[in-house]
Amino acid sequence: MDHKNIKHQDTLCALEAKVNATTKPHKIPIVASSTFQFESIEQGIEIFKHQPGAHVYTRYGNPTIEAVADKIAQLEVFGSDLTGYGLLCSSGMAAIHNVIQTLLEPGSSIITQGNLYGGTTEQFQRIFLKNGIQTISQDLSDLDSLEDALRITRGTKLIYLETPANPTLQCLDIQKIALLAQRYDSKLVVDNTFATPYLQQPLVLGADVVIHSTTKYIHGHGVSTGGAIICKEELLFKQIWETLKLVGTNSNAFDAWLINLGMKTLALRMKAQCDNALYLANKLSTLTQIHKINYPGLPSDPNHAIASKQMKAFGAMLSFEVGSTSEDAIRFANKLKLCTIAPSLGETDSMILHPVTMSHLKVLHETRLKYGITDSLIRLSVGIEHAEDIYNDICQALTP
Ligand SMILES: Cc1ncc(COP(=O)(O)O)c(C=O)c1O
Repeated sequence: MDHKNIKHQDTLCALEAKVNATTKPHKIPIVASSTFQFESIEQGIEIFKHQPGAHVYTRYGNPTIEAVADKIAQLEVFGSDLTGYGLLCSSGMAAIHNVIQTLLEPGSSIITQGNLYGGTTEQFQRIFLKNGIQTISQDLSDLDSLEDALRITRGTKLIYLETPANPTLQCLDIQKIALLAQRYDSKLVVDNTFATPYLQQPLVLGADVVIHSTTKYIHGHGVSTGGAIICKEELLFKQIWETLKLVGTNSNAFDAWLINLGMKTLALRMKAQCDNALYLANKLSTLTQIHKINYPGLPSDPNHAIASKQMKAFGAMLSFEVGSTSEDAIRFANKLKLCTIAPSLGETDSMILHPVTMSHLKVLHETRLKYGITDSLIRLSVGIEHAEDIYNDICQALTP
């Protein structure tokens, strides 16, 4: 409506300001509109018929969110013949929930490893168990016992992997597990948060769905919380989108915009962080105060062969034991000056976490030990600082 035809300022206050239609922003706009208007009821009917893709309401889909989801999907299938279909969620946990909720029903099972991110384990045990979905946790590097589990488990099955795993950096063979999943008519879902699509492409290796906590490396700057779901089958993508739309776990235009901004430096950050992590792993392995280092980039690490096969570089997460008790690890952590104690990862600055008092506090002692999550284990998310400064900080914190 032409402003000249409005009789009262009150009405003008309430109306939308208009952008010049010929303006073309160089950067993706933040389309912060909850809903999208139609020229007519007939056009509305047509647009409603053709979702997803057409815009009706942001919970159903939004141009900023979709553009960023699509970019992550393109990264996940880059260099292959696959088509990637992406969705963005409010968090990594929401992404995991939407996928499991879509693929499984009461009576079905999640077959997974015992050393997952603690929140994922809790979601499986506390939310899905109530919905009649059981979790079978075992060492997924033992492919024979995985095959046994697939053979004897009744109902719909889903294999859920995290590789490298949090916080022990265990790597699992995606290609071999994908073949088993296919043989037993099961879907394979991979949490690719630690590796990012820059280092590892699970869909190309045979997985059906990839999930991310974009809160970590994909965004990389620690000011946005989000999750991503990437599929290679359009039908599956549409089914998961239906769940996302009905549960309302969508992202928002501002977070999507922040994720996009962070992703521009994903390759640069990953290169610098992986180089720093390799440098630190080598240096730390010479120190007597450090008893065990988990880093797949070390040729002596039991995960080196699998990581070399399926990852472009070995990632920027490592974990190590300081002394032998929880107190030893806590004393060390409290003395760090450059590395921050914070329960997240994948940002530009180095961050440490003590799993047994933080991320894995609720995991049973026995289970923790079985998967190498010992009392003195420290997890380090290596940043882009100069590697020598990180090393010096660790050394000064190790001095009695
Ligand atoms: C490997 C992994 N997956 C999923 C999540 C959950 O992501 P969010 O915190 O974005 O919900 C985390 C969180 O730390 C994680 O480390």
